Amino acid sequence: MSGEEKIESALREFLERKRINRRDFLKGCGILAMVLGLSQVDGAAKVALALATKPRPPVIWLSLQDCTGCTESLTRSQSPQLLNLILSDLSLDYHETLQAAAGAGAEESRLATMRDYAGKYVLVVEGSPTPQDGGVYCALGGRSNIDVLKETAASAAAVVAVGNCACFGGIPGARQSPSGGVGVRDILGSGVVHIAGCPPIAEAITATFAHLLVFDRLPELDGLGRPLETYRNTIHDRCVRRTFYDSGQYAKNFDDQGAKQGYCLYLLGCKGPTTYNACPTLRWNGGVSYPIQSGHPCLGCSEPHFWDGGGFYAGQSAPLASPSGVITAVAIAAGAALGAGAILTGRAKNHTTSSHAAPPTSDPPNPEEKTP
Ligand code: SF4
Ligand code: SF4
Ligand code: F3S
Repeated sequence: MSGEEKIESALREFLERKRINRRDFLKGCGILAMVLGLSQVDGAAKVALALATKPRPPVIWLSLQDCTGCTESLTRSQSPQLLNLILSDLSLDYHETLQAAAGAGAEESRLATMRDYAGKYVLVVEGSPTPQDGGVYCALGGRSNIDVLKETAASAAAVVAVGNCACFGGIPGARQSPSGGVGVRDILGSGVVHIAGCPPIAEAITATFAHLLVFDRLPELDGLGRPLETYRNTIHDRCVRRTFYDSGQYAKNFDDQGAKQGYCLYLLGCKGPTTYNACPTLRWNGGVSYPIQSGHPCLGCSEPHFWDGGGFYAGQSAPLASPSGVITAVAIAAGAALGAGAILTGRAKNHTTSSHAAPPTSDPPNPEEKTP
């Protein structure tokens, strides 16, 4: 049997075993190949081969202070074959929301995975840790979330924070939150991969695991720990309303003529110019749309402290002011001096460079003249 025949045979066997439609599978692989920046010619085939033949690391998925929206994003994915990669092929061994086991059985499942796959499993964290008051605001199996998080991370091959809560504290970390949520890095230190968003796009989560399978390492990260392949560009860079921004045409109200004609939402509070995410390219619900396309400004949900930044609908507000008063956009620009490079073995490394450009600092073209 030639090399090509062996590959084809392995792929056929995989699709039959998983009962996945070949066309759907290759379409999903094409999407992942696009996110991973692989060549259009053989990228999908490369991804398909990796998914069909490579062994998967087990996954432990901890839910801390969360609303389960990140899991919902994943399970409501319109691409069942991609979802299958996560739930089945990635061998999800422990997920508090999805697993059948409960109580002591669930804890035993987590401990068994840690014991049997020490140094090989991936720890995914959804929701923010809460160290406040000894960690009493979130308990797992009767234990402080901080204890369980540290224990589970200790022998993980990689730690991936999914969603703004886990990455940066999110809503549980907003001002006046009694539980004082923080990011996973605040507990475990650097080296945690951030799949940011509230929630993240399902394909952004899936692509990170696909990268792991295809390249045997985690993706390169930006200065805030996000995979560059998904978070390289701002929403503004590829926005469907960008031509209106560039020509100074803005909606001033949600029901004015500008809004009806799809004008730029900058004056209605859009944080697209300072928000790094792939919404305009990947879009939501199987590529149907994203907030701005549907008429709503970007809230900056993949950036730190988005909940407290300026005002959701305040035009030209300071977009991402952190609780300490430091404008996060400045931190992003400063992050250009930091760096990227993450490998599975020994966890993701600290960053030393970032390809992110500083966010725009000038005002947009004069809105007054051309806004209806
Ligand atoms: Fe929910 Fe958003 Fe937090 Fe995910 S990041 S758990 S969707 S609040
Ligand atoms: Fe799109 Fe917002 Fe930029 Fe306008 S300001 S072009 S709506 S991202
Ligand atoms: Fe979030 Fe903005 Fe996308 S609010 S979903 S990053 S358009």
